[in-house]
Formats: sequence, C-alpha cells, structure tokens
Amino acid sequence: MSLSPDPIPIKPTPAGVPRHVAIVMDGNGRWATRRRLPRVAGHAKGVEAVRTTVEACAREGIEFLTLFAFSSENWRRPADEVSVLMRLFITALEREVTQLRANGIRLRVVGQIDAFEGRLQRLIREAEQRTANNTRMTLTIAANYGGRWDIVQAVRALVEERPELVRDPSLVTEDALSRHMALAHAPEPDLFIRTGGEQRISNFMLWQLAYTEFYFTDTFWPDFGPEVLASALASYRDRERRFGRTSAQVATA
Ligand code: FPP
Repeated sequence: MSLSPDPIPIKPTPAGVPRHVAIVMDGNGRWATRRRLPRVAGHAKGVEAVRTTVEACAREGIEFLTLFAFSSENWRRPADEVSVLMRLFITALEREVTQLRANGIRLRVVGQIDAFEGRLQRLIREAEQRTANNTRMTLTIAANYGGRWDIVQAVRALVEERPELVRDPSLVTEDALSRHMALAHAPEPDLFIRTGGEQRISNFMLWQLAYTEFYFTDTFWPDFGPEVLASALASYRDRERRFGRTSAQVATA
C-alpha cells in the first residue's frame, strides 16, 4: 500500500462534537429474524440505515465517519449471504455516488479490496475518484478489513519504504507506522459506536481505537438513526477525555 497522498484536512468541528465517529453496524440478521424475514432482508434495511446515518452525521458537523461493512472474517458466512452483501455494495455504489457528490461527501474504502470481484473493485475506485475533492465529510467504508491485517500491512509497507529499519529497529516509531495504516487519511476516532447489543471490537481499527470513547447500544443496525446517534453524541459530550493525564491536569489545560 502506498502512503496516503492527502493530508488530514483541518476545519473547526462544532464544540463537543466528535471529529471522527467509527461504527460497527451489528444486528441486521437478528432484526430480520425477529420479523420472520430472511437475514438478507436485514442487510437490505441496513443499507437504508447507512444512508440515514451518513446524512445525520454530516448535519451534526462530524468530519469523518467510518463504517465496518464487511470484516475479513465475514467470508466464513454462508456463500449466498456473502453474495447478497456483495450485490448490496455494488448497488449502493451505483446508486449513491451522485448523492454523495451532491452532499459534499468524500468516499474512501479501506481493506483488502483486491479480494473482491473486478466489477466491485472498479466501482470502488471510480466512486473514490468522483468524490475525491469533497470536503464536508469523509465517509470511509471498511470492507474485507481487519485491524490485525491493517497493522501487518502497515509494517510491511514501512519496511518496504525504508529497508534500513530492519537493521536498526529503534527507528520504527508510532508516527512512522501510523502513516501507513489504512486510515491514515483520518484522525483517530473520538467515538466508537456498536449496535446490536454485543460489547466487543471484533478486530475493527485495533491501532486507532487506543483513546477512543466507546458507546454500545442494543438497537439493531437497521433501526439506527438520528435519535440513537443523538444519544451517543450526548453521552460523548459528558465524557472527560484525559489521554493518560489526571482530571486536575485536564481542568487546568
Ligand atoms: C452485521 O449484522 C452486519 C454486516 C456483517 C454487514 C453490514 C452491511 C450493511 C449494513 C449493508 C451494506 C453496507 C454498505 C456500506 C453499502 P449481522 O448480520 O452480523 O447481524 P446479527 O449479529 O444479528 O446476525
């Protein structure tokens, strides 16, 4: 992977609003099963929730939204479910890119994209190019992504770029590695949200979540929308982010 060419844009975020929100969208299958529908109906409804959430986040002034759409481990699902998810990605890319452009949203896709069929890979590249100059919000879709994969690919890219590091490992720094992570185009997430009631990271952004605030909700992803987002943002506003300092130090700063 090459070094991200575009610097992280800096613009004022409304006070108390997280700059970067990362979401694990869980519960599509259970949402459908509760309605006696096939699991894939939950994924289709989940795409609608993606659209609503992107709009709501842009309205809130959030600058970076990252969604975990397909993990490296999701290939283990039944073949027909994986195939429906791929169709949904393709349809969403075909339908939504014009809207993303109209709304000033830049799209990035991170993960092992080369494992996808050629048509999907082409659509991803085209959508990224067509939205590259948008500045209102960056929407990153993590697809065939895993946090451990991300760290390993970053180490490989760093060593490839600077072979001298093998002889002198003391030159390996957090900053040097960060520049090669798949999400080098975004600051670290301020707020992590997981829907669907489970309380785990599931191999999402392991490197970048070091100081992120966590918010878990029982709401299934297809039911996620502006109201649950507002609750998560209200909870975030009440947090004291200390980054290792004491409360008194934070108050003084
Ligand atoms: C988790 O629910 C959800 C997924 C594995 C897929 C997420 C995909 C979408 C929301 C649709 C496509 C997204 C885009 C960006 C176009 P689950 O199936 O694990 O639910 P369960 O835990 O109830 O079984």
